[in-house]
Amino acid sequence: MEAKKEEAESSKDLPSHGRRTFLKVGLAISVVAAIGGIGSIARAISAPAQSESGTNGTSTATTGSSAYPRTMVATVSSLQINQPVYFNYPLNDEPNILVALSSAVSDGVGPNGNIVAFSQVCQHLGCLYGFQAPGTSPKCNSSYKASGPVGYCCCHGSIYDYTNDAKVIGGPAPRPVPRVMLEVDSSGNVYAVGMSGANIYGHPNGDLVD
Ligand code: FES
Repeated sequence: MEAKKEEAESSKDLPSHGRRTFLKVGLAISVVAAIGGIGSIARAISAPAQSESGTNGTSTATTGSSAYPRTMVATVSSLQINQPVYFNYPLNDEPNILVALSSAVSDGVGPNGNIVAFSQVCQHLGCLYGFQAPGTSPKCNSSYKASGPVGYCCCHGSIYDYTNDAKVIGGPAPRPVPRVMLEVDSSGNVYAVGMSGANIYGHPNGDLVD
C-alpha cells in the first residue's frame, strides 16, 4: 500500500507528457512480468518427470520428452531358439518381435549374444510382417523358403534379415525395421530400453506401455 501511494504521488508530480511516459513504461513492465509468469507455469506443466517407476518391471529410464520406458519383455530361460515373442513397445499399440537366434549376432544380447528384437511394422507401407524360422515358408507364399531367420511381409513381400540388423533382403521396403534396444540383468530378465530409430509408421497418439 505504502509503495503504491508513493508511486501515485511520484507520478502526480510529473508533467502530463512525463506522466504518460511513466504510465506506458509501467504498463510495459507489467505485461513483461505477466508473460514471464505464464511462461514459468507452462514450463512447469510441460516438464517431464525426472524418473518414474511403474509396475511389472517398467520404469522411465531417462529424462526428457524422448525418454523410453524400461520394460521387461521376457526371461532368457523362457526363450526357445527361433520361437518369436510378440510384445508392444514403446507404445501400447506398437508391436515388436523378440527372438533368440541359433547363434550370436551383432547387437545380440543375453549369455549367448543371440537375442534380438525388432519392430514388427513393415517399413514399406506399415503392414505387420511375420517371423520365419530358417527353412519355413509364410502362409501367403509357399514358394518362398527362408534361408535364415527373417521377417517376411505378406503384403508385398518385403524380407528383413534378423541376423544382420534387419537389413532389407527382398521386396520394396526402403529401410530396415527399427531395432528394439535390449538389456539383460543378472537374473536373466530381458528388458526393452529404447529403439534404434523412429518407427515411421508409429502411432503418435499411443500411450507408453504400462
Ligand atoms: S507393407 Fe510390407 S511389403 Fe508392403
